[in-house]
Amino acid sequence: MKALIAFASMSGNTEDMATILKQTLEGKGIDTEMMEFDDTPVETLSTYDYILIGTYTWGDGDLPYEAEDFYEEVSSLALNDIKTAVFGSGDYSYPKFCEAVHTFHDMLKTTGASVFPETLKMELAPDTDEDVECCQEFATSFLTWASLPEKRVGNHVS
Ligand SMILES: Cc1cc2nc3c(=O)[nH]c(=O)nc-3n(C[C@H](O)[C@H](O)[C@H](O)COP(=O)(O)O)c2cc1C
Repeated sequence: MKALIAFASMSGNTEDMATILKQTLEGKGIDTEMMEFDDTPVETLSTYDYILIGTYTWGDGDLPYEAEDFYEEVSSLALNDIKTAVFGSGDYSYPKFCEAVHTFHDMLKTTGASVFPETLKMELAPDTDEDVECCQEFATSFLTWASLPEKRVGNHVS
């Protein structure tokens, strides 16, 4: 099985989360690539079994600038049956905590992808042991969910 973790991270917090997710997936035998949105050729997305999208939140609950093109391009794809999940870092001092995670999560449902109902949202960096465990558990739960066909959600798009 092959996974892609595509992400945007300005100060490294979302990237740190992505790194923990990658290590966890690889520990479960999943061949995992990690790429920033700008370096991710969207035409290759359909070659992955699993796609995890990581984004921090900018402005007033907005997508980061560097996520905008990727977001637009992915929203026009048909990702039928690919298992996807969304995670990201934010800051509770902003009223719309990790809103960009929700924005991607909602968009993926329109692509025909199977979207993991849980999201992983973290205050700043995964600094503590508990934060690291939270990321590891998210990756493990995602794989468990992905292996259960009856749990898949999402509409088919042709
Ligand atoms: C100008 C600005 C706007 C932000 N807006 C939000 C926001 O609306 N919601 C939120 O949860 N975090 C917001 N943040 C916080 C970042 O998402 C947070 O620092 C995050 O950890 C950055 O992740 P990164 O290290 O992966 O870049 C904002 C930060 C800045 C500098």
